[in-house]
Amino acid sequence: MKILRTVKDLKEFTLSLKNEGKTVGLVPTMGALHAGHISLVDRAVADNDATIVSVFVNPTQFNNPADLATYPRNEQADFELLEKANATAVFAPSVEEIYPEGESEQTHVFDLGSVAEVMEGKFRPGHFQGVAQIVSKLFRMVEPTYAYFGEKDFQQVAVIRRMAMTEGIDINIVSCPIKREDDGLAMSSRNVRLTESQRATAPGIYAALKYSLEYSQAHSVAATHDTVVERINALPKCEVEYFSIVDGITLQPIEEWTDSEYIVGCITVYCGDVRLIDNITYRK
Ligand code: PAF
Repeated sequence: MKILRTVKDLKEFTLSLKNEGKTVGLVPTMGALHAGHISLVDRAVADNDATIVSVFVNPTQFNNPADLATYPRNEQADFELLEKANATAVFAPSVEEIYPEGESEQTHVFDLGSVAEVMEGKFRPGHFQGVAQIVSKLFRMVEPTYAYFGEKDFQQVAVIRRMAMTEGIDINIVSCPIKREDDGLAMSSRNVRLTESQRATAPGIYAALKYSLEYSQAHSVAATHDTVVERINALPKCEVEYFSIVDGITLQPIEEWTDSEYIVGCITVYCGDVRLIDNITYRK
């Protein structure tokens, strides 16, 4: 596996792959890799001749400096996992390499539409502009045929699709299913920050979402919303930031189960100071 540190090396390497007639898949990550990320790499390796994985903790998408400072990093372990997963190359640049004019440089305002205004867009101002900034840079540097993202970040996938469309970037975006621990907790790089007792209660998030699937059959959208929030808020040290039951394409809230053919519940929960997100599909 090649380790690339500069944009120049990345571009030269991808050009050489393309000159050999190889298709290239891209898996953007912020490192601290787990089995969820590896499932994206596995999919990319199966679909493409070559797979490039980026490992870059992007400062411009963190609206909370403490979150950026405590974001887990473990480059050596990441490289070992990627090597085992048969990635062709890893792109692990410095912040200066990606943002030579300073990390807050965001000269371009992306048109992300209404999908970026709700949920994470509301609670993490500027977050999706930062995501669009780094992902569009990666798309332009690598020009992959396919790029792979996890459905845990359900809204992020919709925002990236919108960004690619409005920026005129020709790419196939593949969203891959959430990977869960055996007890149901959605895999996340942030899980390592949970204390032992928080880790023991965090699976209650998915348990409440799963319970609500059956509950929703006989109850309104509002009642389903409330039961999920009550159940999770009853867990020790857990507090729901938002739970939104939305149309799976527009991401706008629905009021009745008959409002859409595709309905997803998206949730963010603070477990102590660790912010966890998850989602469940009610209808598709
Ligand atoms: O989902 C993530 O890890 C990040 O938001 C991404 C897509 C790698 C951009 O930094």
